Amino acid sequence: MALRHLRKYKYEDLIYAKGHTPRGNVHFKPKSAPARVRQSILRARSIELARVDDGVRALLDDMVDTMREMRGSGLAAIQVGVPRRLIVVEYGGTLLKLINPVITEAHGENHGIEGCLSIPGVYGIVKRPEKIVVKALDERGKRIKVEGAFGLARVLCHEIDHLDGILFIDKAVPGTIYKRS
Ligand code: CO
Repeated sequence: MALRHLRKYKYEDLIYAKGHTPRGNVHFKPKSAPARVRQSILRARSIELARVDDGVRALLDDMVDTMREMRGSGLAAIQVGVPRRLIVVEYGGTLLKLINPVITEAHGENHGIEGCLSIPGVYGIVKRPEKIVVKALDERGKRIKVEGAFGLARVLCHEIDHLDGILFIDKAVPGTIYKRS
């Protein structure tokens, strides 16, 4: 399977407000976004898939290869430049390939450290639900329901956020973002 080219960005090119440092607060201010931020494909909203065909299955397989190569636990299609609602997740021995995923239930809360393959070396603490239910299509186009708790719920939330152009740095607890090279 072909490895997909993963697009990587600097934190500074993705934050909306000027003057923020990785240790400072990160605000979500779409209106003040500089041009280069608006242009980043990571900020685009991905489009639903109308049908699941061999092309979609091949892309999902390539995404799995790329995620594993990069040692990530999840990847959204937008991260390899394809603005379609597709994610792959591999966590705790579970591999999921989801098409048009939607969170239908969320319970509790859980704080944990997140990073993103598209923003290398940057981490922060993000509050996520403790448990979620996701509805999606599987790679055969069948409707499925996936339940995830703790780490799996976190990865699913992170990847599904990517489909709406939302990054973990937008949601990180203020002051918790840090860089590690
Ligand atoms: Co990410």
